[in-house]
Amino acid sequence: MSPVDINVPHPHLPPLTEVLPAEPLLLMGAGPVPVPAEVARAGGLVINHLGDSMNMVVRHIKALARYAFQTTDEHIIGVSGPASAAMEMAVGNLLWPGRRVLVLRNGWFSGRFAEMAEGVGAEVVVAQVPEGQPITAELAERELAQSSFDVVTVVQGETSCGVWTAELPEIVAQARAHGALSVVDTVCTLTTMPLKKDQWGIDVAFTGAQKGLSSLPGVSLIAFSDRAWEAVEKRPAPRPHWCLDALRAHNFWGHHHYHYTAPVSGLLALHEALRLICDEGLEHRFRRHLHSSLALQAGIEGLGLELATPLPWRLNSVVAIKVPEGVDDAQARRYMSNMFKVEIAGAFGLRIVRIGQMGEQARAPNLFRVLHALGVALAREGAKVDLSGGMAGLESHLAQHAEDVR
Ligand SMILES: Cc1ncc(COP(=O)(O)O)c(C=O)c1O
Repeated sequence: MSPVDINVPHPHLPPLTEVLPAEPLLLMGAGPVPVPAEVARAGGLVINHLGDSMNMVVRHIKALARYAFQTTDEHIIGVSGPASAAMEMAVGNLLWPGRRVLVLRNGWFSGRFAEMAEGVGAEVVVAQVPEGQPITAELAERELAQSSFDVVTVVQGETSCGVWTAELPEIVAQARAHGALSVVDTVCTLTTMPLKKDQWGIDVAFTGAQKGLSSLPGVSLIAFSDRAWEAVEKRPAPRPHWCLDALRAHNFWGHHHYHYTAPVSGLLALHEALRLICDEGLEHRFRRHLHSSLALQAGIEGLGLELATPLPWRLNSVVAIKVPEGVDDAQARRYMSNMFKVEIAGAFGLRIVRIGQMGEQARAPNLFRVLHALGVALAREGAKVDLSGGMAGLESHLAQHAEDVR
């Protein structure tokens, strides 16, 4: 056989330009979300992952991320990977055999911490409430009073069921009072609602790029307090990860030395996404997200549909809607995609559909498009829907908050 013989023939496949729609579907699900043009442009560039330009990008990202997290933390690290990779960096660097973690679980993502913590040999206690219910300070206090923990984990917004942890500041304060480090998942919430990492005393916070930040999937961010970093540095146990080893990653993020080839395009996109967030300002950004989500919620109720989460712990960044009796939501979502080119999310087992209000999703034209599509699609599946009532509910809230939802 000649050395250039090709044994596996090449497949004949069309270019993506022929198979993907010219205009992508409007992503109104639980993420990823649409990205601004500046972010898309930056994500199309490749630069060297080492050298002056990249060093500047890294410095800028850290400065911009400090604003987003509201922190002065020195140890900010960009992770090559999804938000789960940043979660894994937190878990894998702060936990090891002999360490104890309290996992506050009320859904899919808050429960993921427990899977990861078991994987690194930590002792895991899960305190849970049924999906759709909030994690409360009372629950945390009860567990913390019973035994001691090194780490407490909690999500600010449980995307899987649309629940907000309104008592997050209290929970974080309790963890600290009991001598535990707090690790907070801000994946769907960062820059969509207030998070004050330093003021609330959060030790570790992390997020993905593809949700509230409106950047490309595949890159995430994590910030360690000095207290948390001390635990990372003093770790007596072997370090199970190599890519996700925070000390090695800090070589790149703190000292501009090679760790692995950084995901330069994703980082350039993230730079632009964070810069746009700074340009907008968190104050306006929070108001935009709040009123965009409230307008959407008014529209959904105007349609005659029921929101799945009671107001006090309703997550504004991912709105969960009960699927009306007898309706096949998968069919309705398919119709929305095919007919109106709008995508929303189903759920992992619950009878809900979810509409995202993160980053570029929280814009008035997107609200009209998704609400109309949802109403028509559900009506087609047999739900009783008041389409004009829904659009009027949306319009009315937007009219009262025109300055906010710009
Ligand atoms: C609250 C929360 N945490 C973690 C994740 C995991 O993010 P990724 O899929 O980027 O790993 C998600 C994703 O939807 C999320 O919503």
